[in-house]
Amino acid sequence: MTDLQDAIDAIDTLKPIPPVATQILILTEDLNNSLTEIKDLILHDPTITANVLRMCNSAYFGLARKVESVHDAIMLLGLDRIIELVLTVSLSDTFIDEYKGYGLGEGELWRHALLSAHVAKTLVNHYGISANKHLVFTAALLKDIGKLILGRYVAFSLEKINILVHSRGYSFDETEKEVIGMNHEELGALIAEKWRFAEKLIYIIQNHHLLDKSARVNSETVLIYLADIVCMLMAMNTGVDRLAYQFYGDALKRMQLTEDDLQQVIIETNENRENIDGLLNLV
Ligand SMILES: [Fe+2]
Repeated sequence: MTDLQDAIDAIDTLKPIPPVATQILILTEDLNNSLTEIKDLILHDPTITANVLRMCNSAYFGLARKVESVHDAIMLLGLDRIIELVLTVSLSDTFIDEYKGYGLGEGELWRHALLSAHVAKTLVNHYGISANKHLVFTAALLKDIGKLILGRYVAFSLEKINILVHSRGYSFDETEKEVIGMNHEELGALIAEKWRFAEKLIYIIQNHHLLDKSARVNSETVLIYLADIVCMLMAMNTGVDRLAYQFYGDALKRMQLTEDDLQQVIIETNENRENIDGLLNLV
C-alpha cells in the first residue's frame, strides 16, 4: 500500500469531533437564521453546558458573580463569545497530541490554532473586514487538521522534504505533495468532507496557503492565510514548516491592509499572549 493510500485510510482512525460541534460548524456557515438554533444546541447539550459553566466560573474570566446557567453565561459574555468557547473546548481534544514530523510538541499545534483564531478575529474586528466571524474563527482553528495524519509521513521523509525546500525553493506544502502525494491542505479537506463540515469551511481548509490562484480572491480564505502568516512571523508554535510557504503580497491588498496593519496585529497579539495561553489552560 502506498503512503498516500495509507494516509487517506488513517482518516478513519482519527477521533471525530463531538456531534454538537459539527452541528454548530454547519450552522455557522450561514448566520442569517441560525443563531437561535446554535443557542438551542448549546442549551440542550449537557456536556457543553457543564463545560461552559466550568469555564465561565474559572478565574480566567474573573466574573463578579457565579454563572448559574448557559443562558446566564450568554447574558454575561454574549452569544458570540460562548460559541467560540464551545468550539474551542469541543475541538481541543482532537489537536492536543504532538506532531513530530512538523517539530510540534504536545499542545503546540493547538496553541498555534488558537493564536491563528485570535489573529483572524482581530483582523475582522479591528479592520472592519466583512466576513462571517464564526466561520473565520473556526477555519483558523481547523485549517491544519491534515497535519494530524500527515505528521507521521512528514517525519519519515523530512530529510527529502528539507532538500526540496532549501535547494529547489519549493514551499513546504508543495514538497508534501511531491514526496507524499498530497499536502496537509488536501488531506485536511478530505477529513473535513468525511466529517461533513460545511462547504465553505472545507474550501478554506483546502486553500489556506493560497496555492490555487483562484482562492486568492476569496476574502475569508485570504484572511485565514494572513492569520497564519502573522503567527509564522511571530514564530508561534509553527514548527519545521515555519516560513517555508509563499508570501502573496496581493493578499494584503485584497483585504485593503498594509504591512503596518499586520505589524499592529502582531503587537496586539503579543500583548494578549497571556490571555490566549490562559484560554489554552482553561480547556
Ligand atoms: Fe497549513
